Amino acid sequence: MAERIAERLAAIDADGLRRTLRPPSGIDLCSNDYLGLAAHPLLKRRMADAVIAEGVGSTGSRLLRGERTGFARVEEQFARFKGTERSLYFSSGYLANLAVLTAFPEAGDVIFSDQRNHASLIDGIRLSRARRVVFPHNDPWALAQLLKEDAGAGQRFVVVESLFSMDGDQAPLAEYAALCRTAGAALIVDEAHAIGVYGTRGEGLAGEVFVTINTAGKAMGVSGAFVAGPADAIEYLIQRARPFIFSTAPPPAIAAALEASLEVIASEPERRKRLLARACYLRKRLGLAGDSPIIPVIIGDSERTVAVACELQAAGFDLRAIRPPTVPPGTARLRVAVNQGLSEEVLDRFVTALEAATKP
Ligand SMILES: Cc1ncc(COP(=O)(O)O)c(C=O)c1O
Repeated sequence: MAERIAERLAAIDADGLRRTLRPPSGIDLCSNDYLGLAAHPLLKRRMADAVIAEGVGSTGSRLLRGERTGFARVEEQFARFKGTERSLYFSSGYLANLAVLTAFPEAGDVIFSDQRNHASLIDGIRLSRARRVVFPHNDPWALAQLLKEDAGAGQRFVVVESLFSMDGDQAPLAEYAALCRTAGAALIVDEAHAIGVYGTRGEGLAGEVFVTINTAGKAMGVSGAFVAGPADAIEYLIQRARPFIFSTAPPPAIAAALEASLEVIASEPERRKRLLARACYLRKRLGLAGDSPIIPVIIGDSERTVAVACELQAAGFDLRAIRPPTVPPGTARLRVAVNQGLSEEVLDRFVTALEAATKP
């Protein structure tokens, strides 16, 4: 076994794909802390107070001794924020996606999945007993054809991200909703990068959907994820979702931090406005349209991408190389993530450094 692992590692090196663990250093241009809430004083204080009051560990699954009133309260608040009947909190977005995709789709069902969906959606679909049909990225016309051709006997699901994590583009959700209405399909939307960022109150992009998955470790600044939807669907997850049932509940103090996060999102809308303004500014400087805070700078070759990232790190900017299989082969990139705390002056300096690092 040791020999095989050594061989596999050598192959990763030969492809220029060895990853290293590196703590934050330099100006943040790569985290998902879009609104700067991860270190917000209110979230820190509420979480610290809750640790003192309630201890650290939850001591069991929520169906056993791990349940706390704080979880139920923040789930109610999140559902109100999202405009759904109910929500359920999971300890990560990855687990929430596995939960949704293994609980609702059954054998005989079909899942239509966008080609660029996140690994956690892909893994959830693989674990489900339904059949998977992959459709071209952001292509409602192709999806319409596939829905027509593949009528199937069972329930059909369409699974997409609302703001794609590596490309920063939005899914045509209104068109998907109309297609799903006509076809009787259920639309599942991962709002990982849209929650807290888009919508009039930061509630995300999804409109007419079956359920959404809303990670709390990105713009919300904490961790975990809320699945939001109709009351019966959420009740069914409590009864059937294995990542919820067979896992220790998150530390109780997380619920206090999440409540504070929702409060700050409501009371400091200027963070969201500043974020989108800064994203627009950097995009314009790079010759791009739109306001998405996720900006892919595609370089292509993996080793070259690492070299560019290193040069930018040396210049004081924290950026990481994103390589296959996270992105398709030949599209290695820098994933620039704008946050609300970046000034225009810093973004100007970054553009100069990027131009220097990428010149042929
Ligand atoms: C689109 C998308 N879905 C789900 C996840 C997983 O969320 P988490 O990091 O909370 O496990 C991520 C983040 O990595 C993501 O980008």
